[in-house]
Amino acid sequence: MSDSWDQYAADWDSNEDVRAYADKAFASLTEVVNPAGMRVLDFGCGTGQMSERLAPVVQALVALDSSEKMIEVLQAKQLAGLNTLALELTADSIGAEPLLQQPFDLIVASSVCAFLPQYEQTLALLKTLLAPNGVFMQWDWQSEGEEGDFGFTPQRIEAAFEQAGLETVSVSEAFVMRSEQGEMTVLMGVARNG
Ligand SMILES: C[S@@+](CC[C@H](N)C(=O)[O-])C[C@H]1O[C@@H](n2cnc3c(N)ncnc32)[C@H](O)[C@@H]1O
Repeated sequence: MSDSWDQYAADWDSNEDVRAYADKAFASLTEVVNPAGMRVLDFGCGTGQMSERLAPVVQALVALDSSEKMIEVLQAKQLAGLNTLALELTADSIGAEPLLQQPFDLIVASSVCAFLPQYEQTLALLKTLLAPNGVFMQWDWQSEGEEGDFGFTPQRIEAAFEQAGLETVSVSEAFVMRSEQGEMTVLMGVARNG
């Protein structure tokens, strides 16, 4: 189990930018899908910024993160209808976890994928959790594709979707985050399990 994010858990929700990012990501989500009545997986949920916004409307919600401390903060919120999982997503953990046996209509990954050491392989695992026609959505910093850049180019996301066997619906500039350091664009990638 990875604990590299544990140190951020206690203060994660007090960061104004974290909350603003989640507000904007959720707003962009609702422009693409109506999550009402859906069975949803919040992958890399952290303290549940997206889960908090999804829980009141979805039919079922599973929130998964590899950081036990992040999951502890989320559990303390006692969101109605929420199930949590503190685990690394692997073929074995998927097979062993009852909460992952029923397919999801929607999987969201808000500011997660760019941190994954094996983005393409993880997407392929997430595809196995999607219902036919189910939707995957990710939000990540846009990169210019230069050496040392963090984040993704739209081309990288589209190529990863294709490699994972997902159909690209759209990859777009969803919103901009502003700080004293300047502006950073967030890309939203949307794919369908065709
Ligand atoms: C930048 S935080 C975003 C948290 C949350 N989605 C949000 O918007 O506030 C990235 C999260 O991804 C989680 N994460 C990183 N790699 C992961 C993996 N392989 N499986 C599950 N979660 C992972 C981290 O533990 C961390 O909570």
